[in-house]
Amino acid sequence: TRSKRLYIVANRLPVTITTHKEEAEIAQSSGGLVTAVNSYLQHAGNEFSDFFWVGVPGCNSATWKEVSHKIHQATFTYIPVHIADADYEKYYNGFSNSVIWPLFHYFPSYAEYSMDEYSHYIKVNQQFAEILYRNCSAGDTIWIHDYHLLPLAQMMRELVPEITIGIFLHIPFPSFEIFRLLPRKWQEGILKGMLGADLIGFHTIDYASHFLQSIQMVLGIDNDRNVIRNNDRLIKVDVFPISIDYALFNNSYNDEKVIALRNVLLDQEKERKIIFSVDRLDYTKGVQNRLRAYEYFLKENPQYHNKVVFIIVVVPSRDTIPKYVERKKLIDEMISRINSHIGNIHWQPVIYQYNTLEFHEMMALYTSCHLALITPLRDGMNLVSKEFIASRKDKKGVLIISEMAGAARELSEALMINPNDTMEMAEQIKAGLEMEEAEQYERITSMQKRLENYDVQTWASDFMLGLNNIKQRQQTFQ
Ligand code: G6P
Repeated sequence: TRSKRLYIVANRLPVTITTHKEEAEIAQSSGGLVTAVNSYLQHAGNEFSDFFWVGVPGCNSATWKEVSHKIHQATFTYIPVHIADADYEKYYNGFSNSVIWPLFHYFPSYAEYSMDEYSHYIKVNQQFAEILYRNCSAGDTIWIHDYHLLPLAQMMRELVPEITIGIFLHIPFPSFEIFRLLPRKWQEGILKGMLGADLIGFHTIDYASHFLQSIQMVLGIDNDRNVIRNNDRLIKVDVFPISIDYALFNNSYNDEKVIALRNVLLDQEKERKIIFSVDRLDYTKGVQNRLRAYEYFLKENPQYHNKVVFIIVVVPSRDTIPKYVERKKLIDEMISRINSHIGNIHWQPVIYQYNTLEFHEMMALYTSCHLALITPLRDGMNLVSKEFIASRKDKKGVLIISEMAGAARELSEALMINPNDTMEMAEQIKAGLEMEEAEQYERITSMQKRLENYDVQTWASDFMLGLNNIKQRQQTFQ
């Protein structure tokens, strides 16, 4: 008999190939998904014998043939999906990132509706389905990730009715009042597409119940304790808050490279307390709200001048989309205003980097700062906040987190803020900088326990368990 195969399907492969002056460059794709799935496959006694990862490689098939042998494929065999540039533009920059992304993050005014982009979104999903169909068969399992591939489950269900399919949405699912802004045909396309799966996973209870409400309102299908019955097939909707590799972050506190850089940073800012934040460039991250609050804090608290520094790292992302380019400009301007108006020749209130960080740099910043300031206007989960907490083996440091981040539900001992409340944020910055070490210790310890118990491996194995359970229930149901 054929061995059991697992197909992870996501927009991107774990590596992205770019061609620069005719030279192909291989880079790790950003995002926590690779680590998440890897650690599940390596630790757990799982039932699969072959693992595949299906996604776009960032280059055409000729380049892929040239470079693929150079890519280290340890756990997975990569199956590239080559999409023509013009199609990819409309599917990725267009429908995925200029309709679903803004709308699902409660930025309805940023959504640009285009019939043409929607049909390319469907077309690219069909191309994914064709590649998958060529590779897999009825006994296999497909795990689809994120908003780029919402119609794919139903396409695969039609091609291979028996196959096991799970889908996990990494971004929020918005309330029906937002979802209904999509043209009716697109609402149905997305929802029916997702119902092709056996298990549909979300980060929080709210996202799951928003989804169930949309299913009810748009398709008229009810659920019984999160189980939907569609065309005589049972579909389970459940909650799996994604997490991080806790041990990796906690143990790296004592990594040599991390210690060395931490000492450099602490020495450089000797007289000052460090506030730190890192995000992908995105209007959902609330970077300007954060800067506004920091500026207000400095104006209200002149005693902190020269006693504090805000190290802010913005990681380049989607920078061919106008809304992202605009955002970058606004952030640049705001930082230079703060530095030139409040700072002086001895002190820059904001240190700003627009670039990616290496792991040890990130760790050194997480573990040398007094305050991590995470203030998204909307965020499906937010792993930075979890990484920060996990990294503090010294049990010091304060987390300020926006209540609009999925992670806020699990990090209830953090200082909670509303990102639109500048004054509150400024007060919490002050409270955070002045918090006693005993209180820091207590808050961090509670959060660490929770994260250690439910880490990324638990996330992935819980999802797979949920998928097996619903498959079994389907059999008894028939
Ligand atoms: C978010 C999305 C992921 C995406 C990542 C990076 O976390 O949920 O699906 O991969 O951002 O964005 P990018 O557009 O560069 O893949």
